[in-house]
Amino acid sequence: MYAAASPFSLLHISGFYNVFQSMHHIRRNNLPGDLVECGCFLGGVGIFMALLREHLDMSDRTIWLLDTFEGFPDGQHDYFIGQDAPINSVHHDNFRADVEGNIAHCLPDPGKLRLIEGPVETTLPTLDIRVIALLRLDTDFYTSTKAEPEHLYGRLVRGGVLIVDDYGIFQGSRRAPDEYLARLSSPPLFNRIDSGVWAGVKP
Ligand SMILES: C[S@@+](CC[C@H](N)C(=O)[O-])C[C@H]1O[C@@H](n2cnc3c(N)ncnc32)[C@H](O)[C@@H]1O
Repeated sequence: MYAAASPFSLLHISGFYNVFQSMHHIRRNNLPGDLVECGCFLGGVGIFMALLREHLDMSDRTIWLLDTFEGFPDGQHDYFIGQDAPINSVHHDNFRADVEGNIAHCLPDPGKLRLIEGPVETTLPTLDIRVIALLRLDTDFYTSTKAEPEHLYGRLVRGGVLIVDDYGIFQGSRRAPDEYLARLSSPPLFNRIDSGVWAGVKP
C-alpha cells in the first residue's frame, strides 16, 4: 500500500505509518465516521487511506480530499518556525485531473471518495460531512489551518484522531491549531510523530 501510494505524496514514511496506526485504532475501537484530508496535493494519502480502508473492511466510510488543486490561494503567505524565511508559496496550474488519474491508476474501484475543489475557507461551510473519525490537516498556512478545526473538529468523534502536518515546521500550521485547542476545556494530548507531523486523539 505504501509502495502504491507514496509516489503521489510528499509525506515521509513516518507520516504514512501514522495514518496506518490511526486507521487501525479507529477500526479496533469501532469508531464511526469518515476520513478527511485537507490539502491532499496529488492524492497519495487518500489513495493509502482507500487501500487500507478496503484491507480493514471499512468501506462504509467516505474519504474526503480537499484542495484548491492549484496550490496556495493568491495573497496568502507563511513562515518557517524559528525563522523569518517565508515559505515558497507555489501556485500550480489546476492538477485535479492528475489526482483523478493517480486515483484511477491505484484504485480500480475507488468507492466512496470525494474530491472537493476550492479553498477550504470557502468549501468547508458547504460540506455535509457529519461524523469524522480521522481528520488530517495539511494545507500549511495559517488562514486555512484556522478554518479547518473551526468547521471540522466538532464533528470528530471522541477517540477520533487529529493529525496536523507541518505543526513542527510552519508558523501558521502551529499557531492555528494551538489557538483552537487552547479554547477547549479538554484538548487532546498532542504528540510529535516526526519533524513535521503531530497527532492526538480526541478525549
Ligand atoms: C503540503 S501539500 C499537501 C501534501 C499532501 N497531503 C501529500 O500527501 O503530499 C499542501 C496542499 O494544500 C493545498 N492548499 C493550500 N492552501 C489551501 C486552501 N486554502 N484550501 C485548500 N487547499 C489548499 C495546496 O494546493 C497543496 O496541494
